[in-house]
Amino acid sequence: MTKFISINKKISFFKKKTISVEGDKSLSIRFVLLSSLSRGKCIGKNLLKSEDVVSAINSIRKLGIKVKLFKKDCIVYGKGLGGFKYKKNIILNAGNSGTTARLICALVINSKHHIKITGDKSLKKRDMDRIIKPLSRFGAKFKSNNKKLPLKIIGPKKLIPITYNEKLGSAQCKSAVMIAALKTKGKTKIKCKPSRNHTELMFKKVLNIPIKIQKFKKFELIEIDGSNEYKNFNYNIPGDISSASFFIVLTLLSKNSFLTIKDVNINPSRTGIIKILNKMGAQIKFLNKKNYKGEIISDIYVKSKNNLKPITLNPNLNSSAIDEFLLIFLVASKCEGVSKFVRLSELNQKESKRLDWGIKILKMMGVKVIKIKDHGLKIWGSKNLELKNEYVVKNYLKDHRVFMVSAIAALTLGGKWNIHDADSFKTSFPSFLRILKSLGANIK
Ligand code: S3P
Repeated sequence: MTKFISINKKISFFKKKTISVEGDKSLSIRFVLLSSLSRGKCIGKNLLKSEDVVSAINSIRKLGIKVKLFKKDCIVYGKGLGGFKYKKNIILNAGNSGTTARLICALVINSKHHIKITGDKSLKKRDMDRIIKPLSRFGAKFKSNNKKLPLKIIGPKKLIPITYNEKLGSAQCKSAVMIAALKTKGKTKIKCKPSRNHTELMFKKVLNIPIKIQKFKKFELIEIDGSNEYKNFNYNIPGDISSASFFIVLTLLSKNSFLTIKDVNINPSRTGIIKILNKMGAQIKFLNKKNYKGEIISDIYVKSKNNLKPITLNPNLNSSAIDEFLLIFLVASKCEGVSKFVRLSELNQKESKRLDWGIKILKMMGVKVIKIKDHGLKIWGSKNLELKNEYVVKNYLKDHRVFMVSAIAALTLGGKWNIHDADSFKTSFPSFLRILKSLGANIK
């Protein structure tokens, strides 16, 4: 039997509270991987210590990079663009982390020996062809298990720069090509659909890599001049808006509550959830904004809202809210009327098939929901939605976001919930349950 948590009572509220969430996962993984290629000692402050980030740290350790871990911080001793030293036939295990698996392939694109890359049960189901294709064009050779993990990679004698057209709006694909470009002499050119731009900001504002970025209405052009060594650097990782979002929705759907979340990264390529919730009638505010190396850090202020409105979402916002759709569906179930979403096929490429899980959870809650064409969903919400039955969530491939959204549903809508795989949230947000309890949640 897997361990599970039980929630049998709504959260009864915290008036005015302030919390902090842990460091941003995307930035923590990028710090770890990019510091390993730098020349010298890099200090990462407020690094997220979740399982996904630990998988990235263990991977660079296997490549011969020294890493010291402290309670909140981390020191990585980079050895330059060609400094990895490792035995033949090593295996790098990315655990549950798609970002680690995909970016690490780029990190070892010029490997002299075969390197095997693998992951857990969920990661082994995810598409790797999206990075195998462009990385092969640099000259690397891949053997994969039907375009999935485990895979083996070996580099060519000489990497060749490529011109790449990224059509999925995937920051992981864009970043994998950008990291491969770092190691490749010459100009790599990328045309991409907009997605989170942390790698671009790190290249430009932290590593001082020669990079040109042009933004157009529907796409961006990135040009990187590769094979330039870069110096050691320090980086303070801000709070993760994807983690903060669970508490934003918890507050929004509870009664008479106010919450401030300190020092969150509100990079516009990540704030789709806020734009969407505000369009639905929330009044979420950003306070004390600061610019840190191109990222925008701010406190987020949110209060409960009774009469939320349904939404027909413009799919241009999908990419900036890509990890928050389970929460958005939950809010839609509490809005009086029909909400509509389209072009969400990428959700079924995540740690679990999240579009399918969104539908499954809403149906279990008794909410009317149907699939519509163009990979979309229609949700019939009700402001009086109250849950009274028993709900069991299990066999969801330990997707951290399925676990956390179920806990938020239980604490805001009622019912008796048993949520299995009680440790799955640790891949992205180890303090999730502790913060919930500090706000008064009754969780067994
Ligand atoms: C991430 C990009 C997104 C996101 C993932 C983290 C990143 O994936 O879902 O959680 O750090 O680059 P895609 O780039 O595949 O959309």
